Amino acid sequence: MTYCSAPGKIILFGEHAVVYGEPAIAVAIDRRIHCDIRRSHDETTTINGLEFDPKKQTYLQCAMDTLGVREPLNIQTKSELLSGAGMGSSAALTISSLGCLLSLQGGFDLENAAKTGFEVEYQTQGGASPIDTSTSALGGEVMLSPTRVSGFCWTINKEDTTWNVHQSKTPKLKLVLGNTCVHSPTSKLVCKVKEAYNRSSMARDIIRDIGVVVKRGHEALMEEDLVEVGRLMDQNQSLLAHLGASHLKLDALIDAARPHSYGAKLTGVGGGGVMLALTDEPDEAAKAIEGAGGKAYILNSTTKGLAFE
Ligand code: MEV
Repeated sequence: MTYCSAPGKIILFGEHAVVYGEPAIAVAIDRRIHCDIRRSHDETTTINGLEFDPKKQTYLQCAMDTLGVREPLNIQTKSELLSGAGMGSSAALTISSLGCLLSLQGGFDLENAAKTGFEVEYQTQGGASPIDTSTSALGGEVMLSPTRVSGFCWTINKEDTTWNVHQSKTPKLKLVLGNTCVHSPTSKLVCKVKEAYNRSSMARDIIRDIGVVVKRGHEALMEEDLVEVGRLMDQNQSLLAHLGASHLKLDALIDAARPHSYGAKLTGVGGGGVMLALTDEPDEAAKAIEGAGGKAYILNSTTKGLAFE
């Protein structure tokens, strides 16, 4: 038997553009997925007491296939994350299950778990970057960039794209998440943006502009200049909206939160899902988000990544 848990994440800067090798910055959050996997004495694999359905459990099935797991298993999962909302639930499920499966195979290694997790997301979503899976594996603040800077952990390559994964230090941030309650599966919007990227030079320009905003965002975070971080978050939101990743309900929650925030933007995949406000007034921002019809969560970042205890 192995038990493992892994955190969700929020992306501060760079979602979507990071799929094309641009930099991105994410922070692990103190909400996790817990996973317990045992060898089964029966012939069938079960999940939470029910027969395992590979069509529904696409990430778990892909994780097992990638590691060549053929034996029947009893899998238990418990989630503190919203799914299909941009909190990194699929990455946390993938990373926590890989922690268990690699341990059952007697070959656990954090870098291997993060790299395999990326492959699983890539296959299952039809495209992905390693930002969610590396943040869930490492915990803390994670930056991906095409070049290596301080805090370098490992490099991940896919086709023509190289991501250098770094763990960096951010000032303690007060964050409020606003859920639109509009379900938005990652694969759908990642594919929509991919189509735009392949078809339109304007979409490719927007992706590059997001990369520039992320680099400035990294500098502002290093200087602990939250006013500038917030201004850049607003800029990042406007570029994401031009890319077609926002949603009317996201826009409404962002507008409501802004008077109480340094900055606000969608976080994760968009198209519904969740928005994020960086604020010194979390209660006021949360109230404004709820007043605009969203469900608000005041969040803490965590340095705890994949864990076995
Ligand atoms: C989803 O949390 C973030 C995206 O950039 C997809 C990815 O990086 O895999 C939209």
